[in-house]
Amino acid sequence: MDKLIITGGARLDGEIRISGAKNAALPILAATLLADGPVTVGNLPHLHDITTMIELFGRMGIEPVIDEKLAVEIDPRTIKTLVAPYELVKTMRASILVLGPMVARFGEAEVALPGGCAIGSRPVDLHIRGLEAMGAKIEVEGGYIKAKAPEGGLRGAHFFFDTVSVTGTENIMMAAALAKGRSVLQNAAREPEVVDLANFINAMGGKVQGAGTDTITIDGVERLDSANYRVMPDRIETGTYLVAAAVTGGRVKVKDTDPTILEAVLEKLKEAGADLTTGEDWIELDMHGKRPKAVNLRTAPYPAFPTDMQAQFISLNAIAEGTGAVIETIFENRFMHVYEMHRMGAQIQVEGNTAIVTGVPTLKGAPVMATDLRASASLVLSALVAEGDTLIDRIYHIDRGYECIEEKLQMLGAKIRRVPG
Ligand code: EPZ
Repeated sequence: MDKLIITGGARLDGEIRISGAKNAALPILAATLLADGPVTVGNLPHLHDITTMIELFGRMGIEPVIDEKLAVEIDPRTIKTLVAPYELVKTMRASILVLGPMVARFGEAEVALPGGCAIGSRPVDLHIRGLEAMGAKIEVEGGYIKAKAPEGGLRGAHFFFDTVSVTGTENIMMAAALAKGRSVLQNAAREPEVVDLANFINAMGGKVQGAGTDTITIDGVERLDSANYRVMPDRIETGTYLVAAAVTGGRVKVKDTDPTILEAVLEKLKEAGADLTTGEDWIELDMHGKRPKAVNLRTAPYPAFPTDMQAQFISLNAIAEGTGAVIETIFENRFMHVYEMHRMGAQIQVEGNTAIVTGVPTLKGAPVMATDLRASASLVLSALVAEGDTLIDRIYHIDRGYECIEEKLQMLGAKIRRVPG
């Protein structure tokens, strides 16, 4: 397995381009299955999860055409099998997103039940109950979700999400796009990636209204047409590189992004003492060489502070002035990076879903292990500011969510290299 070696101490300074959002690209690729013709999706990030989704399509008999800029053309009419196999689904939970579109477009689907993952049990009961509300017959057996639309296809339904679920909202929205009649989703997720998916469905001729609010109304249509769509920028990658500059007391300008989709994160960076300026598609952060101040935060569904930025802010607090409390309310086991940071000298105490972080002036480089996508990014951030070398193992977690992380950090002056394992 590849490893990353990082020598800490460099103050980052420079400009980088932000890639397309992984968590918008995955549902949008799944939604191409709804179309009655070829669809092209651009600005896809070069990530392992994206190639896994494309591989999944290949297994189902759809041969995506990829151009030199990694725009992908998909024609769902060539699909041959309606099964999403376990060996692929187990590597990427987001494969569950093909369930709704397949039942809506082809009348049936067999999708392996995604297991839990490092950060939590990750149930999919809301995905299943939402489709059942639309008339689907669903059995879960042998580790597979077997779904069948009723005679005449799915019917529009009112569905209340008793927990806010991003992919749950996305799956049911996609199914509703081709259902008969109107669907109303209540307590829906408000994440920008949900809005991007709604915009894509509407670009294909769908009728989705209210995305970005907690009530989404979808009027089913007979068919969805070809479209050409460009995925939104990645707000979590944006936040991660801003924190990289913050922990090193440096300066970074992130381009091809959108400052309006991560306001909770920008507020916390200002509280930490960062000097922030923004434009329509860029954000510049400058610490002027200062050490950040510790911040308190609590993760919650959008527009509140995103759980996917929690680990990165633990890295910031670990070397900040003062003590900060970080409360994780979304996932039950999302502090595993803390135990790796202890090996670098971080002073962090975990009490239930709260991590109390007391900043230290310096961390010490050490061999550490990535455990999940955002945890591994936080270890990179801590390594950037630690004394000496840090060796990060199992970085396939990082490659799932961060395009060319070592190249982008090298462009900012970091001493980082990949060691093939
Ligand atoms: C999405 O996961 C993201 N993944 C996650 O990003 C992100 O952390 C998460 O939303 C929260 O923002 C993608 O968009 C591909 P959930 P998702 O369903 O949709 C409970 C990353 O780092 N729940 O919103 O799978 C669940 O237990 C990844 O890029 C149910 O109870 O998360 C959790 O407590 C990690 N039943 C809460 O909802 C369900 O059927 C939120 O989970 C579904 C979810």
